[in-house]
Amino acid sequence: MKETTSPADQLDELVSVERGEIDRRIFSDQEIFDMEMKHIFGRAWLFLCHETQIPKRGDFFEAPMGSDNVLVVRQKDGSIRAFLNTCSHRGNAVCRAEEGNVRNFMCTYHGWTFGLDGELIGVPGKSIFYKDKLDLSKHPLRKVAQLDSYRGFVFATFDETAPPLEEYLGPTGRLGLDLLAERGDIEAVPGVQKFVVKTNWKFTVDNVFDYYHPQITHMSAFAVGLIPAPADDFVEGGAMTETGANLEVPFLPTDLHNVVMVGEYGHAISGPDQDSLEVTAGGREPFAWRYKPETQEKLGHHGSRVAGHPHIFPTTWVNAGGQLSLRVPRSPGVTEIWWFSFRDKNASPEEKAATLSAQIHFFGPAGLLEQEDGENWAQSTLQTRGTVSREVPQLLKMGLGTSEIVKDDGLAIIDAPINEHAQLWTYHAWREWLRNPTWEELRQRTMPGDRL
Ligand code: FES
Ligand SMILES: [Fe+2]
Repeated sequence: MKETTSPADQLDELVSVERGEIDRRIFSDQEIFDMEMKHIFGRAWLFLCHETQIPKRGDFFEAPMGSDNVLVVRQKDGSIRAFLNTCSHRGNAVCRAEEGNVRNFMCTYHGWTFGLDGELIGVPGKSIFYKDKLDLSKHPLRKVAQLDSYRGFVFATFDETAPPLEEYLGPTGRLGLDLLAERGDIEAVPGVQKFVVKTNWKFTVDNVFDYYHPQITHMSAFAVGLIPAPADDFVEGGAMTETGANLEVPFLPTDLHNVVMVGEYGHAISGPDQDSLEVTAGGREPFAWRYKPETQEKLGHHGSRVAGHPHIFPTTWVNAGGQLSLRVPRSPGVTEIWWFSFRDKNASPEEKAATLSAQIHFFGPAGLLEQEDGENWAQSTLQTRGTVSREVPQLLKMGLGTSEIVKDDGLAIIDAPINEHAQLWTYHAWREWLRNPTWEELRQRTMPGDRL
């Protein structure tokens, strides 16, 4: 890309699906980041919280929507509303807590007070200083354009012309959330783990689908037994030992394959096929959640065989351990990671404790996997800033152009060895969002074809 040309005019050069190449500048340019905030985060349905986090009237949760923050609030009639956490007087945040319960929101600057519905209900000195000339009804907190829930997961959009949530999610996005909702009568574990990684948000997203890296990046997790290593007879060249030392060739078996599902608007699911995982575990407990037979029926053939890694565009990852992660872009080089953990309300205290322990040990600030991933993302981001380094393209060529997309059950499915299809799909959709098309144009352009 030429430095003097606007990124908006260079989108085809920035992401080439045909070549499987991505221009590194998309990970560091402020102008591109600003376009993302406007054209993606200013329009998409974004995950806010789970309904069980705000069960009672007056419960609230502060959630990010792109570069804005909103308060998601349980209303007196049990419904949910969301509005910007910025005072209509002079902009101060009207709420400083991340979550809690209130009767109303009083701004700490001059005391303007807003009801649970965001309406302005109190102004100090309304008669004396404003001479009763201020029309309170004209200055509520700014509401989101649309808010809706799917199976308890609350989403909102700033775009009043956006399609309804269920249509936006489509079969791929809905399946992603079903995979979590079907883990029992679920509730969110109190508290959200939040931490910062010096990375561009897109690295954290494309990594969701990357099943090429665990064998190298997460070697220590295999070594300490956090993830069961594959059986010895699957080790090509016999290079992997029990302790993970002497790794000379990749040990992931060549017959381990991915189930990839690509969906409209950029949603995707890509993880190892459940059966394939069980084979590679070589009789040991497979590193995957197996649903009860009746649940498998509900999820359908494809839903019950995909072992995780659904992603709802742009930044919501539903992970296989009963968690949901938001990747919150704060600047081109800084991303906040939020982890929501879920459990079955009816589980025993021991089961709940075991679930939480596993969730904490895999992901989040104390999670071994995420510490390892975070190092890669930070380094990859850093290298996109080098004057010369940034001219070297990112490659997503694995399996490029070789896979047939089969349409079944409303899903667009690829069964193939480990590949980079879902990553490429995500960047394809990203490019189409940045063109700022109409919703119908966007849907058409992100409709899966016959091959990837
Ligand atoms: S900024 Fe909120 S009351 Fe003045
Ligand atoms: Fe990882």
